[in-house]
Amino acid sequence: MNSYWEEERKNHDLFEEIKEDKKVSVCIIGGGLTGLQTAYNLSDKLDVVILEKDRICGSTSGKTTGKITSQHGVFYDYLINSQSKEFAKMYLEANEKAIQNIKDIIEKEEIECDLEEESSYVFTKQETKLDMIKNEQKAVDKLQKEKSDYVKEIELPTEISGAIEFKNQAQFHPLKYAYGLAKAIIKNDGKIYENTKVTDIKRENEKYVVYANKNKVIADYVVLATRYPIMNVPGYYFLKMYQSTSYAMVFDAKKKLFDGMYISYETPNVSFRTIRDGDRELLLAVGYDYKTGTEELRDGYQRLEVIVRKMYPDAEVLYKWTAEDCISLDKIPYIGQYSSIMKNLYIATGFNKWGVTSSNVAANIITDKILQKENKYEEIFKSTRIEPIKNRQEMGDMLKEANKSILLSRFKIPKEELDNIKIGEGKIIKIDNTKVGVYKSKTGEIYKVKPICTHLGCELYFNNIEKIWECPCHGSKFTYDGKSIEVPSNKDLKTF
Ligand code: FES
Repeated sequence: MNSYWEEERKNHDLFEEIKEDKKVSVCIIGGGLTGLQTAYNLSDKLDVVILEKDRICGSTSGKTTGKITSQHGVFYDYLINSQSKEFAKMYLEANEKAIQNIKDIIEKEEIECDLEEESSYVFTKQETKLDMIKNEQKAVDKLQKEKSDYVKEIELPTEISGAIEFKNQAQFHPLKYAYGLAKAIIKNDGKIYENTKVTDIKRENEKYVVYANKNKVIADYVVLATRYPIMNVPGYYFLKMYQSTSYAMVFDAKKKLFDGMYISYETPNVSFRTIRDGDRELLLAVGYDYKTGTEELRDGYQRLEVIVRKMYPDAEVLYKWTAEDCISLDKIPYIGQYSSIMKNLYIATGFNKWGVTSSNVAANIITDKILQKENKYEEIFKSTRIEPIKNRQEMGDMLKEANKSILLSRFKIPKEELDNIKIGEGKIIKIDNTKVGVYKSKTGEIYKVKPICTHLGCELYFNNIEKIWECPCHGSKFTYDGKSIEVPSNKDLKTF
């Protein structure tokens, strides 16, 4: 499902797909905000190409909330405790600089992307959670005086017990920003190819050879700027991250809205912001996330509607979509060298739910690495760090889920028969001793796939809301008839 933001594509031509071999300095794989900002930074100095398998911002960047903020939930108290005060200070500073950097780019390139300065808030409705909010405010205060405030009231029309406010944050239209960056990249003679799927990357004679649409791009540097790395080894990021899906809806609230950007402290979180849409203002609500490929929380849209209608009873639903994010186990993005044994190959991933600022931080670190300049934030996001010792519980759960799925695929035999599948439903059944993923369409057609993920072989679940196959291990997604739609896998399922 396309997001509200993706409507912006109608105003722009498709970038052509790659049709010939190329030799460049930097090949960026992925045309989301990370790829575009990195290309923007480098395109006036080096030869740069972006290879995007779909359309620019066709994945997470096109489905984001578009909040430009260093307030990453209640986070800084956790960072001080799990890392150190100095670490937390650097993290805040890097993200504050990213906010400013995005504003500077918008101003310099005169990008009309509905940028609005706002405060952001994390609020709680529960008295029992107030201590967490107050502790967070004290933690932030230690890092940067007067950055935040503890407040008892907010403009969002809902009862709260308390909130922490971050000042001088912002929101924008991510696709308008992305197309503004693309224009600047092209102006600098950078190249962007859409519908260009990378199938392999090889190291040859001190260079990288990137294979895409039957062509080769030979590059000195490669940047993996896809949400999830498309290479499994030797980076092993699939052991250090999982994917999370959130529901997003845009409403016409039929009422005057609010100033500020909000997110609830209670999990699953719900986030709110306004969108300027011509003469009217719309409401964007995002939340009720679940670990991709599991059977949790499948009624996120209904829940979002309920929560919005409590505030705005006449609200009309205009758009809905789901957003996919990579969650690193220590909650800190992986930015920098892909692996200590692969020189000049860079990665940016694991942005959790905060990809707008994290993508800018990543673009600046990777740019400095390629230009061989110092970057003082490089160390805290180091992608080859040995971790995440401090989040053993989560890592244990993830590995358990992966094992369960692999074991299920080998030993558990489902009892369901083909006839028991309802119209519009998918499930795994056994036909002639072979497990088959079956989807029965609204018109009764049957689609059969091998329900084994083409990434690393976990058994898939069928998401009956979106009518897609999802992998519980690292979050790959496939259409009901087996086409790969979300990385890390970029191979289609086998069909019967
Ligand atoms: Fe990794 Fe499916 S996404 S096994």
